[in-house]
Amino acid sequence: MSSQRTQSVARRQDAGGWLFPLLATLIVAVFLTLAASSPAWAQSGTADPSVTAEQPTRGQIPGNALGGTNDTEFWKMIRQGQSGTVSQPDKKLGVLVDSSGENWRAILNGPVKVYGAWLILGVLALLALFYALRGRVPVDGGFSGKTVERFTTLDRFAHWLSATSFVILAFTGLNLVYGKYFLLPLIGPSAFSWITQAGKYAHNFVAFAFMAGVIMMFLLWVRFNIPKKHDLTWLAKGGGIFDSKVHAPSERFNAGQKGVFWLACLGGLSLSMSGIALLFPFEFGFFGKTFAALNGLGLDLPAQLSPLQEQQLNQIWHSILAFVLIAVMLAHVYIGSVGMQGAFSAMGSGQVDVNWAEEHHNMWYARLVEEGRAPPSNQIHPAE
Ligand code: HEM
Repeated sequence: MSSQRTQSVARRQDAGGWLFPLLATLIVAVFLTLAASSPAWAQSGTADPSVTAEQPTRGQIPGNALGGTNDTEFWKMIRQGQSGTVSQPDKKLGVLVDSSGENWRAILNGPVKVYGAWLILGVLALLALFYALRGRVPVDGGFSGKTVERFTTLDRFAHWLSATSFVILAFTGLNLVYGKYFLLPLIGPSAFSWITQAGKYAHNFVAFAFMAGVIMMFLLWVRFNIPKKHDLTWLAKGGGIFDSKVHAPSERFNAGQKGVFWLACLGGLSLSMSGIALLFPFEFGFFGKTFAALNGLGLDLPAQLSPLQEQQLNQIWHSILAFVLIAVMLAHVYIGSVGMQGAFSAMGSGQVDVNWAEEHHNMWYARLVEEGRAPPSNQIHPAE
């Protein structure tokens, strides 16, 4: 038994005797071959001269050891939100790291929030200053006691449908942006979260009433809002807003009102489209298509947007446009109520005093008198 074990150990020692030198020779041969085929920098032990601090390997790993692309470049592409291809129908899954989300957040929490607040506060301050200096714009000739129909029931329904829904949308929208700074400390987290959630639902649904109202106003009033030459005279005279003795020419709507009309319709349309894209995320590509169309005019805008970038642009645009429209509507609400004597009844009862009609819409009123649809005023008013 013991002699058998001794023989086997001796055989293994014999084998090791020729195996070891063979392996050693092989390793040396492989090493020498590799060394001969390596570039000079590898043999000398210095760094690759093509590698710089800014561009470590020009996007390529020498030797294609781990795939052709350098990790740094590859990571940079992922980090900058480059979209890859995916077989799933949900194409946004092609973006691994959406770093544009950080830019979006910074824009929204920075300039949009700050300048939006300044815009609204600035307009309110200007209106207060205007009221302090000018007071309520009076009816120059005083009330005559005779009235004329300015807006029908249908006109007023369309207006108040858009107006009330706009006010609800504005307050619930502003609460989403600023509520946590003002309302939350005042009413506490439970009430605030309840109000904000209810407000968000209201915002989603009331938006459709706003769209319906704007479409109605557009259909009812578009023919009165085509810009005409005399609108320039109205603008040059500042609409007579600074001096009651100055009367500027106007048909049913003056140049300022035409501006409000087009802003309400076109701004309302764009606000609605971006709002719908927010309600149904990743369904639309409005920005890519708009940018592609604008590029046809010689611009160089990024038309290839990822679904997430589309969504971010929608959100920023919706906020900016909402701030602009709120600012414009504040001025509109002011002049349609406290700012001008005799104006509100146009949208209240639908009737206005004939002196008011003649002072602010002389061409429209003159036509109504001519057609026998309005009583003549007591005053001779030289607005041309
Ligand atoms: C909530 C307060 C509002 C008040 C008190 C108000 C008041 C008025 C009044 C009195 C008029 C008639 C002016 C005239 O006879 O010439 C008017 C017209 C009009 N309103 Fe309003 N409005 C309000 C909100 C809105 C909103 C939110 C919108 C749009 C979304 C809007 C859009 C219009 C348009 C397009 C006109 C016709 C053009 C013009 O007069 O500027 N209004 N409004």
